[in-house]
Amino acid sequence: MKTILCIGAGYVGGPTMAVIARHCPEHRVEVVDINAERIAAWNSDTLPIYEPGLKEVVEEVRGRNLFFYDDVEGRIDGADIIFVSVNTPTKTFGEGAGRAADLQYWERTARQIARCCTRPKIVVEKSTLPVRTAEAIEAILSNNSGGVEFEVVSNPEFLAEGTAIRDLEEPDRVLIGGHDTPAGRRAVEEVAAIYAHWVPRERLLTTSLWSSELAKLTANALLAQRVSSINAVSALCERTGANVVEVARAVGMDARIGPQFLRAGVGFGGSCFRKDILNLAYLCEHHGLPEAAAYWQQVVELNEHQKRRFVRDMVRTMFNTLAGKRIAVWGFAFKPGTSDTRDSPAITICRLLAEERASVVISDPQALANARADMADVPGVAFTSDPYEAARGAHAVAVLTGWPEYGDLDFGRILEGMERPAFVFDGCNLLDHARLAGMGFCVHRVGAPPLTPG
Ligand code: NAD
Ligand code: UGA
Repeated sequence: MKTILCIGAGYVGGPTMAVIARHCPEHRVEVVDINAERIAAWNSDTLPIYEPGLKEVVEEVRGRNLFFYDDVEGRIDGADIIFVSVNTPTKTFGEGAGRAADLQYWERTARQIARCCTRPKIVVEKSTLPVRTAEAIEAILSNNSGGVEFEVVSNPEFLAEGTAIRDLEEPDRVLIGGHDTPAGRRAVEEVAAIYAHWVPRERLLTTSLWSSELAKLTANALLAQRVSSINAVSALCERTGANVVEVARAVGMDARIGPQFLRAGVGFGGSCFRKDILNLAYLCEHHGLPEAAAYWQQVVELNEHQKRRFVRDMVRTMFNTLAGKRIAVWGFAFKPGTSDTRDSPAITICRLLAEERASVVISDPQALANARADMADVPGVAFTSDPYEAARGAHAVAVLTGWPEYGDLDFGRILEGMERPAFVFDGCNLLDHARLAGMGFCVHRVGAPPLTPG
């Protein structure tokens, strides 16, 4: 029996440890966080994050072999393996501001671990970190531990929000990077043995520490790059009469390209894509590779452009003024299946709409609390969980998150309550556009010419 500790009870730490606890009943799994409120929520019936299937797993294992504590220091020395999944946001100050990763939470955690340990530990990098961070962590640990031995292992997380439990239960691969030394190999095997409880051995991929760290940044950069690529194509489709859904299907059937991450929309969001690409670009620059840096930077710039382009289309279509017009925004989460709004395209788009002096009414099935916080400084924005209520009296509906339930609404009822012309701007290409146009809506899609009523 081992005690596995995870420092950081966020979107990664909570679900990951719950799944480890489920599959490793002989191990004791503890999750700690400096945010006592968050820990209280993990110990309550209302978990701090919404994720399909998460509540069931937590209820199965909490109190059995999964425990949440807010006493971080008190739990450190009892652990054999310490996963660290604290946040690594983009730096907002000083050298590298707006691009480099802010490693202050990681460094603080490393110092805390060193201070509290009296016996050897494996420290696992679960957060997404710049390549060669392990070197810095090792220096902090070895200089502050009074001779206690540490082995640092990289085990980046690839789960996506909204499908976190499925991704953890059936990962494409689990990546574990370590030093090519006897102690390093032993540590990698100890971490691999945890996952081997439920992940087939051939999916446990072991590499060097640096490859593991860089593979995580590269995976996110490549996924985001595909989204920016198809969004760049979507603009050309709108000009030429091609349809981006058809183009994506056609290219995605090429086995070398594949169908995933080719959905054009209002741009990618979420806490990681932008931050990780900016970090990758910064690292390239730092290592004297300005051309590679500019290449990755452009993925982010195209994404920003896609959000602005969406609002510009709304303004132009609605007779060049949104002032005083009620706009129903359906969906605020950065993707369906989550309450997370971090870096959601809806934040930028709603702010741009408010700048146009539109009267914005935001609706979302899960993310309203976060939406209120994100828009707190913008006057005149209203919120409702009911999409019908949002659309009543509106000049336009803008779909910004592809929640499937929006496709099943009673559009006859919605049309009846709207101003004319009744515009729909489907930023997720979710709705049945031909049917809506047939009913009398003016339908604007991403990556295809608009459909007029009739
Ligand atoms: P999060 O903000 O949801 O959670 C991080 C938690 O760490 C917070 O609750 C915070 O209070 C806690 N924390 C910070 N400093 C601490 C300290 N010194 N001691 C104890 N707790 C501390 O972040 P997240 O979304 O879980 O992401 C964590 C890391 O995982 C990031 O590096 C991110 O890039 C990476 N990642 C995230 C996802 C995702 O889907 N969100 C997926 C893969 C990887
Ligand atoms: C992403 C990666 O998919 C995970 O592997 C990774 O672990 C995680 O980032 C991370 O490091 O945080 P996530 O951000 O949760 O996961 O969600 P995605 O499904 O990747 O979607 C990201 C954004 O891209 C969303 O805003 C989504 O709407 C958008 N997207 C995705 C598109 O616009 N088009 C697509 O075809 C796919």
